[in-house]
Amino acid sequence: MLEVSDIHVSYGKVEAVRGVSLTVKPGKVTLVLGANGAGKSTTLKAVAGLEKPTSGTIVLDEKPITGMPPHAIVRRGIALVPEGRRVFAPLMIHENLRMGAYTAPKSSYDETLAKVYEMFPILSDRSHAAAGLLSGGEQQMLAFGRALMSQPKVMLLDEPSMGLAPAVVDSILTKVRAMADSGIGILMVEQNAEAGLDVADDVVAIARGEVVFTGPATSARDNASVLRAFLGEAALAGQ
Ligand SMILES: Nc1ncnc2c1ncn2[C@@H]1O[C@H](COP(=O)(O)OP(=O)(O)O)[C@@H](O)[C@H]1O
Ligand SMILES: [Mg+2]
Repeated sequence: MLEVSDIHVSYGKVEAVRGVSLTVKPGKVTLVLGANGAGKSTTLKAVAGLEKPTSGTIVLDEKPITGMPPHAIVRRGIALVPEGRRVFAPLMIHENLRMGAYTAPKSSYDETLAKVYEMFPILSDRSHAAAGLLSGGEQQMLAFGRALMSQPKVMLLDEPSMGLAPAVVDSILTKVRAMADSGIGILMVEQNAEAGLDVADDVVAIARGEVVFTGPATSARDNASVLRAFLGEAALAGQ
C-alpha cells in the first residue's frame, strides 16, 4: 500500500503540487486525471524520488520513503514508467529489459524475464530486435516490461497511451489491468479519461496542484469537478 499525504512540490518559486494526498492499493489502479500543467507528472516524480517534496509524506508498506533518492525508491518496490516511454532505441529488447533489473536480485532474473515475456509475447518474439524498430505500442509494452524487471509492488505510469492509435490504446490499457490483476498497485496518469476509467478502480482529479476529487472510478464519470479538472476551466466556461 502506497500512501501519499499532503505533499507539496515546488520548482523554484512555483508550487506545482499543493497538498496532494492519494492511496494506491495492491492489485488496484488509481487513475490521476487533470488538465495540462495540473501537477500530475510532478506528483509521480515526487513518489519516484525525482523531485523532493518540500512537505508531506510518502509511505510504502508503512515505511516512509519521502525524500529518498530514486534508486533507493526503486529498490523499495516503486517503478516509474515515464512519459514518452524512453526506451533505449539502439539497444535490443532484451538489453532494455536487463537495464530494468539492475536493482533486483540476480537469482530471480530468469524467472522475472519469463513472466515479462509471458505477459508481453511480442517482446519475446523480437527479443534481439533493436527497441527503436518497435511501434509506439510495442515500445510502451517494453517500457512496462523494463519496469516489471525491478519486481515492483507499485508502478507509476505517466500517460502510457500518449500518441497511440485508439485500437492500440485499448490493448495497452488491457495490459495495465493485467499488471494490476497480478497484484501490483498502479498509479496511472491518463489523458484519455474514458479509456482510463474503464480500467481504473479509484480516481484522483487534480486541478492547479490540488486534489479536487477522490473516489471510486464508478462515481467519477458523472462528477462535474472531475470533468472540470480534466477539461480545464476554459473548456467548461466555453460551454
Ligand atoms: N522542471 C520544471 N521546472 C519548472 N516548472 C516545471 C517543471 N516541470 C513542470 N513544471 C511546471 O509545474 C506545473 C505542473 O507540471 P506537470 O506536473 O508536468 O503537469 P501535468 O503532468 O499535470 O501536465 C506546470 O505549471 C509546469 O509548467
Ligand atoms: Mg504530465
